[in-house]
Amino acid sequence: MLYRLLRPALFMLDAERAHGLALAGLKLRGAGAPPTPGPLAIEVAGLTFPNPLGMAAGFDKDGEVPDALLGLDFGFAEVGSITPLPQAGNPRPRLFRLEQDRAVINRMGFNNRGAEAAAGRLGDRQRRGIVGINLGANKDSPDRVADYVTMTRIMAPLASYLAVNISSPNTLGLRALQDEGALSGLLNAVLEARGADEPPRSDTAAGPRAAGPPIFLKVAPDLEPADIDAIARIAIDKRLGALIVSNTTISRPPLKSRHAGEAGGLSGEPLRPLALQRLRDFRKATGGALPLVGVGGIASAEDAWARICAGASLVQLYSAMVYQGPGIARRIVRGLEQMMRRDGFASVAEAVGSE
Ligand SMILES: Cc1cc2nc3c(=O)[nH]c(=O)nc-3n(C[C@H](O)[C@H](O)[C@H](O)COP(=O)(O)O)c2cc1C
Repeated sequence: MLYRLLRPALFMLDAERAHGLALAGLKLRGAGAPPTPGPLAIEVAGLTFPNPLGMAAGFDKDGEVPDALLGLDFGFAEVGSITPLPQAGNPRPRLFRLEQDRAVINRMGFNNRGAEAAAGRLGDRQRRGIVGINLGANKDSPDRVADYVTMTRIMAPLASYLAVNISSPNTLGLRALQDEGALSGLLNAVLEARGADEPPRSDTAAGPRAAGPPIFLKVAPDLEPADIDAIARIAIDKRLGALIVSNTTISRPPLKSRHAGEAGGLSGEPLRPLALQRLRDFRKATGGALPLVGVGGIASAEDAWARICAGASLVQLYSAMVYQGPGIARRIVRGLEQMMRRDGFASVAEAVGSE
């Protein structure tokens, strides 16, 4: 209600300034108690998520407000992407609201204050609730794999899980790390830096628990069927904790807003059909052997439930919060509880992939 009153004023501001105010508001609000595991609790990669709805990466790039986000009823918060060195990102303007499309286009380019600053802040947390750290590489890095290794070493002790993000469209060449050969090498390096207690095996039988936090991999929605099969195979082989499907798209479904022609990654409602389709593709390719995190265009409990039934164990959102405000998490969590009961499921895990 309050957000509905504030929104016209916020939307008169440049989108990045409005985002800065949202962060400032959350800082003022301070850390809330994270939600406690309720009827929606689900175990993924050895972690008990109190509910399956998370804040996606990019909202809290520097890890400033994860506990305030958990206080809004998000079951988990993913901070980042964080790169080893501080980085200014692309010139402004680089963030655009597409109001008529309930969408966002961004070409931020991994702007963040770097690993050292974030590690200091995240190290000072009380470590309550599930906070994932999303890892990126510096734009000018001569060795991007080395960047992910550095980030893994620094962030592993501070994270519930690490998300390897090789799917941002705003760092030139980054998405090439999704190619089969490159991906395998990258993940071997990250897993070694994380400290696995046994080498990856090609079966999916449960082995001894790994020493560090689980590794999630975040992929683009703009992938060909052969890429999807290769990524799925590698992710299972390396025993990743989960695949996050997906990042923003460089494709342009029909859009109405005046910023439709801006370069960058598109998120929000126009991404929903594509992200849902990619989730289904990955569900098919993994055969349920690997948990999936569904993200892209989720704006309601119905959207989140559809994603779960299509195979997502967890879901995330970002753009819908721009349009609906901070009450969105609580609304979706309540709606999911009703839908689970309505459809006769005893747990979220039971509903995953049930469509
Ligand atoms: C402004 C903005 C910045 C983002 N920055 C990141 C990022 O740093 N790392 C990342 O993995 N994803 C980033 N994302 C992608 C989101 O995490 C998410 O995958 C995408 O927006 C689709 O979800 P949505 O439609 O709910 O927004 C960003 C998205 C937006 C809108």
